[in-house]
Amino acid sequence: MSARKVLAASLLLAAVQLATSTPVTATPPPPAPFTPAGGLGTNGTPPVYHPLSDFDFQSMNLALNQEWIELDLFHHGLAQFSVEEFEAAGIDAEDRFLIEFMADQEVGHATMITNILGPNAAKPCNYTYPFTTVREFVDFCQKLTRFGESGVYGFLEHLDSRPSAELLLQSITTEARQQMIFRQFEGLFPMPIWFTPGITQSMAWTLLSPYIVSCPAENPHIVFQNFPALNIVNGPSAIPLINSSLEGNSTLPAITHNRSIPLSTPGLQVDLTWELPGKITGYNDSYTTNTSAGPAQFVAWISQLNTTYTPLFNINGTSGSTLQPNGTIFGPGSNALVNGTVFIAVTDNNTFVTPFNLSEINQHIVAGPAMYMAG
Ligand SMILES: *[C@@H]1O[C@H](CO)[C@@H](O)[C@H](O)[C@H]1NC(C)=O
Ligand SMILES: *[C@@H]1O[C@H](CO)[C@@H](O)[C@H](O)[C@H]1NC(C)=O
Ligand SMILES: *[C@@H]1O[C@H](CO)[C@@H](O)[C@H](O)[C@H]1NC(C)=O
Ligand SMILES: *[C@@H]1O[C@H](CO)[C@@H](O)[C@H](O)[C@H]1NC(C)=O
Ligand SMILES: *[C@@H]1O[C@H](CO)[C@@H](O)[C@H](O)[C@H]1NC(C)=O
Ligand SMILES: *[C@@H]1O[C@H](CO)[C@@H](O)[C@H](O)[C@H]1NC(C)=O
Ligand SMILES: *[C@@H]1O[C@H](CO)[C@@H](O)[C@H](O)[C@H]1NC(C)=O
Ligand SMILES: *[C@@H]1O[C@H](CO)[C@@H](O)[C@H](O)[C@H]1NC(C)=O
Ligand SMILES: *[C@@H]1O[C@H](CO)[C@@H](O)[C@H](O)[C@H]1NC(C)=O
Ligand SMILES: *[C@@H]1O[C@H](CO)[C@@H](O)[C@H](O)[C@H]1NC(C)=O
Ligand SMILES: *[C@@H]1O[C@H](CO)[C@@H](O)[C@H](O)[C@H]1NC(C)=O
Ligand SMILES: *[C@@H]1O[C@H](CO)[C@@H](O)[C@H](O)[C@H]1NC(C)=O
Repeated sequence: MSARKVLAASLLLAAVQLATSTPVTATPPPPAPFTPAGGLGTNGTPPVYHPLSDFDFQSMNLALNQEWIELDLFHHGLAQFSVEEFEAAGIDAEDRFLIEFMADQEVGHATMITNILGPNAAKPCNYTYPFTTVREFVDFCQKLTRFGESGVYGFLEHLDSRPSAELLLQSITTEARQQMIFRQFEGLFPMPIWFTPGITQSMAWTLLSPYIVSCPAENPHIVFQNFPALNIVNGPSAIPLINSSLEGNSTLPAITHNRSIPLSTPGLQVDLTWELPGKITGYNDSYTTNTSAGPAQFVAWISQLNTTYTPLFNINGTSGSTLQPNGTIFGPGSNALVNGTVFIAVTDNNTFVTPFNLSEINQHIVAGPAMYMAG
């Protein structure tokens, strides 16, 4: 190479270095006082409260359907039963006002999600309910708010729209309090867990869809999967009303009761039956249950931070049994892994999942989830 060419090449190299290094050596804006670097949406850009993807729209529209049924349910229960029936279950006038206030909260939550979603947001529907007594109403509310709350925790951290996630978070933490209050109305220990689990949208939709009879034609079709239904044949129940002054036995409303007689304990045999796929479900008969899983082999217990599998035995067609698992979340002396209202599903494999990749289990679900009362 000639001296001139070497000079030209080194000048070019210097120019390139100058051009590429300029942004790097530019002085970054000084950090705002008391503000650590990092975080999402912290740079002063005005937040926009809109879905940013179909994932966002579908997830929040599912949550909106949940808010609408809660609004209807709380009003429906208050209207269905007489004052005498409520009083006999220990639910007095002030308790009933609290349920009425929860219905008002649902108006607020539905308004908020509708504002995020815009004109295509789901409208209220007609519903059907599985209760004929006050105790059954309260038990249903306790379970419906549990899968409503867990259904949002399952997708909240996956939303593209962080501003929308913020608003949804502020509604779902309120709903968490409703769930606890319904446990208290049932005379149960209010919060027997250290962590509230999330479930996938398909699990939430599977649990919700049987109670929606018909919806306005313009309601957006819900794309999530409807899994075949799972039934717990011998499920522990908190419904019988026991008015016992003996310590640890009352199921009358209270801030908390020590349950000296647990609803269920580890090692209990749980008998299950489930449906085959292809059943019509959901509003206006416009959904069909589906599974992509192979033969049933395990039961997944979704509780706390953990999905725990127990073997399914006595498998005969669409029935089988399993044992309630033992174990604690962080080893001896810590909180029982399965305590309170937990989700169980029949699966074809014991695929290891953690809270942020729980949706990896969807493809393995044979049937469910169902809600199991433990502890
Ligand atoms: C529960 O039992 C106590 C004592 O027997 C009685 O005073 C009370 O009215 C009962 N409450 C309900 C809701 O049945
Ligand atoms: C709800 O039910 C009523 C009474 O059967 C019916 O007139 C109405 O069309 C239904 N609404 C929807 C949205 O399905
Ligand atoms: C569902 O049925 C109701 C009542 O017949 C009807 O008004 C509504 O348009 C239907 N909705 C859908 C999504 O087909
Ligand atoms: C709990 O209440 C039930 C039903 O009244 C009764 O059979 C049982 O003996 C009571 N047990 C205790 C420990 O209070
Ligand atoms: C409640 O249960 C805890 C744990 O079993 C026990 O330590 C406590 O003494 C009980 N308290 C009452 C009032 O029963
Ligand atoms: C559950 O684990 C505890 C502690 O290891 C043990 O004492 C108990 O016997 C176990 N229960 C069952 C039903 O396996
Ligand atoms: C389940 O969904 C798949 C994919 O959409 C479809 O091919 C299959 O026919 C469905 N099965 C049933 C039982 O509807
Ligand atoms: C399996 O189920 C069928 C139909 O319900 C029943 O006739 C049969 O006895 C069952 N087999 C066993 C081994 O339990
Ligand atoms: C439950 O999940 C937590 C968090 O991932 C983990 O640390 C713990 O070991 C798990 N407990 C069991 C019994 O699997
Ligand atoms: C399970 O929940 C009950 C309340 O229903 C609570 O008293 C108990 O401490 C919990 N068990 C464990 C091991 O955390
Ligand atoms: C089943 O789960 C095991 C882990 O428990 C995993 O190694 C295996 O790949 C899974 N099989 C399928 C078909 O997902
Ligand atoms: C889920 O995430 C955990 C790590 O938290 C990983 O070990 C596991 O393999 C993942 N499961 C699947 C099915 O991808």
